[in-house]
Amino acid sequence: FFHTEIPEGLRRLPGPKPFPLIGNVLEVGSKPYLSLTAMSKRYGDVFQIQIGMRPVIVLSGSDTVRQALIKQGEEFAGRPDLYSFRFINDGKSLAFSTDQAGVWRARRKLAYSALRSFSSLDGTTPEYSCMLEEHICKEGEYLIKQLNNVMKADGSFDPFRHIVVSVANVICGMCFGRRYDHNDQELLSLVNLSDEFGRVVGSGNPADFIPVLQYLPSSTMKSFMSINARFSAFVQKIVIEHYATYNKDNIRDITDSLIDHCEDRKLDENSNVQMSDEKIVGIVNDLFGAGFDTISTALSWSVMYLVAHPEMQERLHQELKDAVGLDRTPRLSDRPNLPFLDAFILELFRHSSFLPFTIPHCTSKNTSLNGYFIPKDTCVFINQWQMNHDPEIWKDPSSFNPDRFLSADGTAVNKMEGEKVMLFGMGKRRCIGEVIARNEVYLFLAILAQKLQFQAKPGQPLDMTPEYGLTMKHKRCHLRATMRVRNKQ
Ligand code: HEM
Repeated sequence: FFHTEIPEGLRRLPGPKPFPLIGNVLEVGSKPYLSLTAMSKRYGDVFQIQIGMRPVIVLSGSDTVRQALIKQGEEFAGRPDLYSFRFINDGKSLAFSTDQAGVWRARRKLAYSALRSFSSLDGTTPEYSCMLEEHICKEGEYLIKQLNNVMKADGSFDPFRHIVVSVANVICGMCFGRRYDHNDQELLSLVNLSDEFGRVVGSGNPADFIPVLQYLPSSTMKSFMSINARFSAFVQKIVIEHYATYNKDNIRDITDSLIDHCEDRKLDENSNVQMSDEKIVGIVNDLFGAGFDTISTALSWSVMYLVAHPEMQERLHQELKDAVGLDRTPRLSDRPNLPFLDAFILELFRHSSFLPFTIPHCTSKNTSLNGYFIPKDTCVFINQWQMNHDPEIWKDPSSFNPDRFLSADGTAVNKMEGEKVMLFGMGKRRCIGEVIARNEVYLFLAILAQKLQFQAKPGQPLDMTPEYGLTMKHKRCHLRATMRVRNKQ
């Protein structure tokens, strides 16, 4: 790579000098979102580091990222062949695998349309505008009961532990047509111990780039493999049950609709993209995986920020009290009347940037960006954290201030400001669950803030330091908070 001929008129990428064998691993360190943001100040929006022997391009700055992912989208839409990605969904993941462009595009389209139809389906009673709303409202009410019970028994609770079950139940409802009890050990062992997953697949994990590390014993890697195997087995069992009870005239959920697609495809001799049934039905594995961890992380960070800013918690509650009242559960349709809640969520996304880098990308051919030459098959990191903390775009980026997204009179969200927040990627690989995710974070949070008041456990300082990974979480052990059901007055 470093000795590649640079085509005339293009420049060689800037970046820190790599050490032999380890490259820039030491400078990247354990908080790549900070170290790579600092490097972008020195080397610019497009620079190169080396992790082990492998070159990686790091992109920062809204204009540069937009240029790569939108204007040159086709060239930057691939995924690199990374060691850890091979274990996700048996190497057949929609989000992480190195599927050829045609296969990936066909699978993405299928996933998107299944997700859209099963979230917008009518609810079981006219009270709900759609299935997504019904699942969230019901799970929100169960969650409040569950937190109440835990509070009575233990006097405090760990937000992530309970939120994750409720969120997993919403996506389980859409994918598999079922929900699980808050104490279901099988589900808990998957969703509640998934921190290792994020830690291993976060951008810059040295084992993905330095082959010798793959042969050294590592408890994190062992646990990562075990989570992936258990996850696949869990989904596989449900898929087998679905095949056994599948009825073409009664498509119950996303799994059924994917099985149905396989059946239809067998009749369609003109189908031009060859895909195994496994690759089609395996999409549900991605939807389930992506659908619970991200949203639970967003919601448990929300609780942390509410506890850290009690005055904002009061303001949010007051807004809900005025716009919705305290006698009925908030709905999706209340959202336009809750601008502070919307601004709070945007600021939560921006400030926490809990998905600091997108999933790594890869170039599909030789290309150039901002005048620099980038060869085919180069791994590319997109630094979302940098974009959300860029002082050129954000005034006082390190302060948590939802008002930055509100109009001067506080009655409306400034949509243009909101669109500058980068958390779902952009372009061809943009998250396909974004609309569901934004609705889900909004509605769960509205339900929680209407009914509950969160406080730190006395004597326990709040630790807001994120732990690095694909999704950054707050430390679990420091996270117990107390709450009380609010009086209806
Ligand atoms: C991909 C963010 C929720 C499904 C992504 C990517 C990001 C992201 C940053 C990678 C984009 C890239 O590589 O450039 C988020 C956030 C969420 C969320 C912040 C919640 C707050 C969801 C949900 C689902 C979902 C609820 C589905 C139920 C996917 C899938 C991909 C993806 C399938 C892979 C797309 C591809 O590679 O073509 N998401 N996501 N996500 N997301 Fe989400």
